[in-house]
Amino acid sequence: MNTITLSDRRYLKIWVLLYFLGSILILPTTTSVGFTTDLIHRDSPSSPFYDPSITVSRRLVAAFNRSFHRAQFFNSRLSGVTNIFPDPHLADYLMKISIGTPPQEVIGAADTGSDIIWTQCKPCSYCYDQKLPIYSPDNSSTFNSISCDSTSCMLVPMRSCTTSDNTCLYLVVYGDLSYSSGELATETLTLQSTTEGVSLAYPRLVFGCGHRNAGKFTEDQNGIIGLGGGAFSLITQMGSSINRKFSYCLVQMFSHVERSSKMYFGDDAIVTGDGVVSTPILPRYPDTFYYLNFKGMTVGGKRVEFNTTKPTSVEGNIIIDSGTSLTFFPEEFYDRLELAVRLLMKDIQPIGPDEENNLRLCYNRTEVMDLPMMVAHFSGADLELDSMNSFVQIGNDLICLAFVPVDGVVIFGNIAQINFLVGYDLIKKAVSFKRTDCMKL
Ligand SMILES: *[C@@H]1O[C@H](CO)[C@@H](O)[C@H](O)[C@H]1NC(C)=O
Ligand SMILES: *[C@@H]1O[C@H](CO)[C@@H](O)[C@H](O)[C@H]1NC(C)=O
Ligand SMILES: *[C@@H]1O[C@H](CO)[C@@H](O)[C@H](O)[C@H]1NC(C)=O
Ligand SMILES: *[C@@H]1O[C@H](CO)[C@@H](O)[C@H](O)[C@H]1NC(C)=O
Repeated sequence: MNTITLSDRRYLKIWVLLYFLGSILILPTTTSVGFTTDLIHRDSPSSPFYDPSITVSRRLVAAFNRSFHRAQFFNSRLSGVTNIFPDPHLADYLMKISIGTPPQEVIGAADTGSDIIWTQCKPCSYCYDQKLPIYSPDNSSTFNSISCDSTSCMLVPMRSCTTSDNTCLYLVVYGDLSYSSGELATETLTLQSTTEGVSLAYPRLVFGCGHRNAGKFTEDQNGIIGLGGGAFSLITQMGSSINRKFSYCLVQMFSHVERSSKMYFGDDAIVTGDGVVSTPILPRYPDTFYYLNFKGMTVGGKRVEFNTTKPTSVEGNIIIDSGTSLTFFPEEFYDRLELAVRLLMKDIQPIGPDEENNLRLCYNRTEVMDLPMMVAHFSGADLELDSMNSFVQIGNDLICLAFVPVDGVVIFGNIAQINFLVGYDLIKKAVSFKRTDCMKL
């Protein structure tokens, strides 16, 4: 905690001050800093969900299954059901934060597909079992409930008031009817910076103190950390203190070397240098999601146009998401893409569709010498995908296309983003990509 190695002199004063105050830095929201945290894949050994007895193939099947369910929830969100969020247990990555003074630890789904922060909260009228102690406002000097008249309360889609003291109550319902309800409150949220070895504390962030939480939540996870574009997400609330910038670098899942993926904020999240490509983030309903404009894919030199009129003819036709493994395309486009792959692999007989993992196009690994080069085209940005971005190996035998057809929502998933530094700049309204060996960061 004492080793502060920060090259940028602008912040020296803060760090010196911090040194004397102890290890927690309370940030005025106008001060910009940079810091880095770990993003824990839920199936990696450092995740509380990790079960060493499950084979890699089974974990992949489960991850794809989560992807399909998550896409379905995105769809209901798009069709106007505003208070339905994708389940926290469907997001692939977790993050550790602390809430309160002194800090109480929370492990929540780090979810670019939702924008609320909530945790189980004492006193519980109903809480599911969790491994970590349940957050207790009584043990925190910085907990404040929010009154019904406040602007924050007005922004909650499903809200009510206590008659006794006019406290704002929230309810969030997830796609599978899991729900969390309780008081809307403000607290100090603390993030541990892995690079600078210090904690950064953000005072007065709005969060849900969930007194009644039920459904398919599990004991390993005691909340959700929304990273979407909406008003209450961690990103929106940290606001100018991170210059509205964050980025992540996702390592390949299930590789032999154990390394965490990383998430960067503020000045650490700037993506620069050779080979950076950028594409605009386009505003569209709902503001939770980060929409990009997808133009097509080149498969081994042949361009497949994304000229699909259904369901998205307007700009902002694809959601970039870190919580969904697979990439989802409309059926009509997917079919042309699959055909282009098949033509290039013409001598090799495909196996499948694989009923178990729901992937459409698989080959016998031992028969495949080369996989086709693919380039994903976004407005202003051509992403050269690696074979590990477009195909996924299942067991020793199978190698399958990691793109699937879907009726409805179009999602650029996390397998396609592995080994790219992916930076979101919400001031410039752009996402930047840079090919990076995320293991080496
Ligand atoms: C797929 O997900 C659903 C809903 O979350 C679950 O009920 C089902 O058991 C899962 N199937 C597999 C094979 O993991
Ligand atoms: C508050 O913290 C103390 C000591 O850490 C613990 O014994 C107590 O149970 C906590 N209270 C609540 C309501 O969680
Ligand atoms: C899209 O382009 C392909 C050929 O590039 C064409 O076959 C297809 O009909 C087009 N689809 C639409 C909806 O325009
Ligand atoms: C793949 O090919 C190898 C060698 O030809 C064979 O032993 C194996 O059974 C095949 N696997 C599948 C899933 O077809």
